[in-house]
Amino acid sequence: LQKSRVTVVGSGNWGSVAAKLIASNTLNINSFHDEVRMWVFEETLPSGEKLSEVINRTNENVKYLPGIKLPKNVVADPDIEHAVKDANMLVFVTPHQFMEGICKRLIGKIRKDAVAISLIKGMEVKKEGPCMISTLISEILGISCCVLMGANIANEIAVEKFSEATVGYRENKEIAEKWVRLFNTPYFMVSAVQDVEGVELCGTLKNVVALAAGFVDGLDMGNNTKAAIMRIGLREMKALSKLLFPSVKDNTFFESCGVADLITTCLGGRNRRCADAFARNGGKRSFDELEAEMLQGQKLQGVSTAKEVYEVLSHRGWLELFPLFSTVHEICSGRLAPSAIVEYTEHSARLP
Ligand code: NAD
Ligand code: 13P
Repeated sequence: LQKSRVTVVGSGNWGSVAAKLIASNTLNINSFHDEVRMWVFEETLPSGEKLSEVINRTNENVKYLPGIKLPKNVVADPDIEHAVKDANMLVFVTPHQFMEGICKRLIGKIRKDAVAISLIKGMEVKKEGPCMISTLISEILGISCCVLMGANIANEIAVEKFSEATVGYRENKEIAEKWVRLFNTPYFMVSAVQDVEGVELCGTLKNVVALAAGFVDGLDMGNNTKAAIMRIGLREMKALSKLLFPSVKDNTFFESCGVADLITTCLGGRNRRCADAFARNGGKRSFDELEAEMLQGQKLQGVSTAKEVYEVLSHRGWLELFPLFSTVHEICSGRLAPSAIVEYTEHSARLP
């Protein structure tokens, strides 16, 4: 039996935790090679050292996951072509805005029998309409791509607190089960559903709702208002997913990738935290500024996703059907004050 080789493309906060989870399993499961390569977007630390060298010397991603030891079989590699060349299982986990460029660099550089999974929350908007990141990977690289999404704040999984996750697959259940075996641990319980679009849209759209939740936190509106935002947001998530992909299943919204991820992100995510600060500053400090100051190199996905969703909605004439999604973008772009989220939510709550 040929052993599978895994490479993680990305080494941010979640990328590093994903490598930790995977590497604990490849050591114990015979069908996987022990070593897990992790591609690092190279940078020089204030000490003058290269991040990838520090990760390999200390087994710690001191910038994006400080304080957590990675298993020794995680090998950081700053050369992307070298990192992917032997792998037949590719785990993509970078901020979504970098993926198109990364995929283009990988054309002709990966194994013919490689399969992929995307842990990335976001979408691209093309002339033809929205393009999910798993589709981008499949189309550019000509390989199958599952997704893994869930209520997964990386810092909590890093210290092995229990959580669940959902693998979404298109046709091949066997490949999905292999991904489940690669990720599943006693503290990270993974299940698979045949609804790749539903799972990926849940993970992507909840980041827009998380911004709305952060705005109401920053306005000190209390728990009932926040719960209303979450309810209305979930309704818009489901409606938009089904309009874009009629095959999306209702049950997917009850998996970890759906309601559970929405709740955890609205309580403890980075999008929520930065939106809270944005509203407290009355929208006077931009998200770019707040992201750089509060996240030290980590990236928000919600602000660009809100813009991408807005483009899709306006292009299709659906803006009025999605008042929460549209308002979040109008607030982020400075056209409306943060308090508009409450007025629009009140309006939206009365919709049938
Ligand atoms: P991050 O936000 O912590 O880190 C940013 C990463 O982007 C760093 O690795 C940095 O080196 C890299 N980067 C910066 N500029 C780059 C460039 N030009 N090209 C390529 N890479 C560049 O990353 P993350 O938390 O691992 O997030 C990756 C994806 O995982 C996102 O879509 C996110 O929504 C999703 N996700 C994150 C979490 C979490 O809790 N952090 C949980 C679930 C899903
Ligand atoms: P944030 O990017 O808002 O921290 O969300 C993390 C996440 O997706 C948890 O599942």
